Amino acid sequence: MAELRLGGRTRDIASALAPHPEASTLPREFYLDPEIYRLETEHAMRAQWLPLARVDQVPEPGDYLATAILGEQLVITRDRDGELRVLSNVCRHRAMPVAEGSGNCSVLRCPYHLWTYRLDGSLSGAPLMAARPGFDRSAIVLPQVRHEVWQGWLMVNLGGAAPPLSPQVPTLSAELAGWDFTDLRVVASSSYDCPWDWKLTVENFGEYYHHFGLHKDSLEPFLPAKRGRCLDNRGEPWNSSVIDCSSDYLELQGRVMPGLDADLATTMQIFTVFPFLCAGAQGSSAFWLQITPQSPRRHTVTWHVLVRPEQAAWSDAEEFAAMSLSAIDVLQQEDARACRGVQAGLGSTTAAPGRFADLELSLWQFQVWLLGRLAEGSR
Ligand code: FES
Ligand SMILES: [Fe+2]
Repeated sequence: MAELRLGGRTRDIASALAPHPEASTLPREFYLDPEIYRLETEHAMRAQWLPLARVDQVPEPGDYLATAILGEQLVITRDRDGELRVLSNVCRHRAMPVAEGSGNCSVLRCPYHLWTYRLDGSLSGAPLMAARPGFDRSAIVLPQVRHEVWQGWLMVNLGGAAPPLSPQVPTLSAELAGWDFTDLRVVASSSYDCPWDWKLTVENFGEYYHHFGLHKDSLEPFLPAKRGRCLDNRGEPWNSSVIDCSSDYLELQGRVMPGLDADLATTMQIFTVFPFLCAGAQGSSAFWLQITPQSPRRHTVTWHVLVRPEQAAWSDAEEFAAMSLSAIDVLQQEDARACRGVQAGLGSTTAAPGRFADLELSLWQFQVWLLGRLAEGSR
């Protein structure tokens, strides 16, 4: 495939799809054209598995969490039997979001006219409606969105037709086994508005090559770029890179996640399950960079700090969470400088695809996957 017909135009993607050593980055219009963004949302987002929350964010029976992704208003519920559901959060009366924020409840009650739904989405009450001709309460239910739990993430497939996620990423699941992401819990979060294309965040997150540039004084002394390596994804929809830490980095973190193998504790591993489950782990803790696309060239990122349940009870847990968020803030500002700059650079007609470094195999894996999804969608 050398060309791709997208948004009524033919795009030359031959150099983007060349083998990694010879390949170039995506043409600039992939970061500029709202029509390409629309096709991405359809084929590379809605048709795929997207991270919505960590299951530990709705741990108890009766817990709910209202959220939104790609314009879909959703509410995650855990019923009395512990079963998780992702429901449309749109009232079947006049479309008011039924739940706001998060909490614990026995039913969800729409604040507008008090229609009431059980945690499985079925309507349990609708004031003054019983006598309406043909009004059948039992036929009214908040539609469910397909979900799957992978490594503790609640993943959703808005399109409803994606093949199950877990069998698509067996190599990654094996690569991450030592970290045991499954029962990690979110202890701190911080959000940032990102006025640039979502892919710039995914790409920036996915490589260590920029440590000696952007993070010269922050990360490079502890996580030197030259000690990083990208993993072979065997054609599966993910990328991942590992980097060896300096010994003083472990000291700086001041703790090791209980049960973690000593060799793993001296590394950091990052991964992205495409399109945008971006996360990673290091000796002390793990992290999730939650991406919420808003519009072409705008998304929100929320950084979450994840720790083992035992760690959350340690006496200095709050201090550690605050320290982690302040370190993240420094890195986010440094990364934002590049993402903002690259978006501006790509807006210039002189911008041209560039060649990849060895440490950017992960970016090539991402773009090959993305182009594959767009090609599939344009057929
Ligand atoms: S919109 Fe929900 S009860 Fe009317
Ligand atoms: Fe960075």
